[in-house]
Amino acid sequence: MRRLPWFFIGAATILLVAGSAIFGWLTPVAQGFSTRVPPTAIERWLARRIRHMSVPASAKDLTNPVPNSQQVLNQGRAHWADHCASCHANNGSGEIAMGRQMYPPVPDMRKLETQTLTDGELFYVIQNGIRLTGMPAWGSGSAQDTEDSWKLVRFIRHLPVMTTDEEQEMQGMNPRTPDELKEEQEEQNFLNGGNTNEQHHHH
Ligand code: HEC
Repeated sequence: MRRLPWFFIGAATILLVAGSAIFGWLTPVAQGFSTRVPPTAIERWLARRIRHMSVPASAKDLTNPVPNSQQVLNQGRAHWADHCASCHANNGSGEIAMGRQMYPPVPDMRKLETQTLTDGELFYVIQNGIRLTGMPAWGSGSAQDTEDSWKLVRFIRHLPVMTTDEEQEMQGMNPRTPDELKEEQEEQNFLNGGNTNEQHHHH
């Protein structure tokens, strides 16, 4: 009986030390709010585990209703170049400024970590997004969005074997900033003989 308080004090001390070590390890407290540092391994692992557990089993087991045809891959690729590449890069590597500087950063989707997710899980992520990350939800519930997301799942499966030709073609499909549009227009005008601009200056 006389030992009991010491046992509790000892146990409480151990819990407190371990707890604060884990807290400091998991949270950005030690590092501030910067998104420049990569997440710790345990943070990454936990986030993926929790996400994996929160995708309903019925969603994980869904099979892709769109065929693995060239046409579907082309459509998925065009969609990716337009909507996803700004964060994920055309080849899915995530090697692009926006994706790299996010917290958590975008993963290299060509790797096993992504490729071992089920089709249903990829679809679920695309439709619903991922909370507390930069990954937006793309599904509005419309049949068109549903179909587009399944096509994107086909395209994601294709990422690991994508050719450089395909990648180059995508560069023409990436969204343009107003500056880029202007530059392209000027180039086009130049190629057309360089006079098209002048016409606008006659009043
Ligand atoms: C604004 C930036 C942004 C855009 C645009 C974006 N994503 Fe993401 N995406 C992210 C981030 C950040 C993550 C990583 C989240 C995490 O670590 O949990 C992610 C994760 C994913 C994942 C999960 C991969 C994995 O291994 O866990 C899939 C699938 C995905 N995105 C598909 C898409 C598709 C398809 C599009 C286009 C329709 C898209 N994303 C557009 C930021 C973006």
